[in-house]
Amino acid sequence: MTTSTIVGNWKMNTTLASAEILAYGIRDMRVVDGSVDIIICPPYVSLDRVSRIVSGSHIRVGAQDVHPESSGAFTGEVSPDMIAEVADFVIVGHSERRQLFSESDEFIGRKVVASLNAGLKPILCVGESLEDRRAGRAEEVVRSQLLNSLAGIEDVDGILVAYEPVWAIGTGEAANPQIAQYMLGTIRFALKSNFGAIADSVPCLYGGSVNADNVQDFVREPDIDGALVGGASLDAQSFAAIVARAAEVAG
Ligand code: PGA
Repeated sequence: MTTSTIVGNWKMNTTLASAEILAYGIRDMRVVDGSVDIIICPPYVSLDRVSRIVSGSHIRVGAQDVHPESSGAFTGEVSPDMIAEVADFVIVGHSERRQLFSESDEFIGRKVVASLNAGLKPILCVGESLEDRRAGRAEEVVRSQLLNSLAGIEDVDGILVAYEPVWAIGTGEAANPQIAQYMLGTIRFALKSNFGAIADSVPCLYGGSVNADNVQDFVREPDIDGALVGGASLDAQSFAAIVARAAEVAG
């Protein structure tokens, strides 16, 4: 795959006003030559406004989470159909959801199915904790998160996978690119074994302390098709620099 995918996860940051400024900033950087797919994921309340700002540009929009049911008595939740009105993608199974909100693989799997049914492309996140890695369980944990979260589907077309080791998220300590490649190679192999050749076209991303200085080390690896970026996506210039660096490798 020669196209890179760079996803900006804004997490619980930005007000409506600052989201608007950030979206305009990213849109107006115009650093892209078509070899990078750019997806930005603002908080729910800013989705509609950000979508309107980037509409007509090469930038697409995603939500950061979704509920698996399509409507009903689920106070505070947002359904796939609601998101599909304003976005094309949705992050599911981020480690912050798994850890802070006790989300299980089974629940995440229902979100994957519901998102696909609503026409959304899920960005499925998997990743081991430091404890798992130290105990030699990294591959086993990631493989089981992946396959359990995909248990309800027969075809991985339309899905993106992000490998985000918990110990690398927000720490400034990105994974060694060879470790990231090894883990994403493992993910690709598991996808191929279970879903066939289509696995080759599933964008597989690395996430965890990605910035403009290290992004090329990741996207040069054969099984790393892009990056999921948190902190460095909150500044238009630093996000644009990451996109530009990824474009140099992809192009
Ligand atoms: P980070 O976050 O780039 O700030 O480490 C990545 C993520 O959580 O998606």
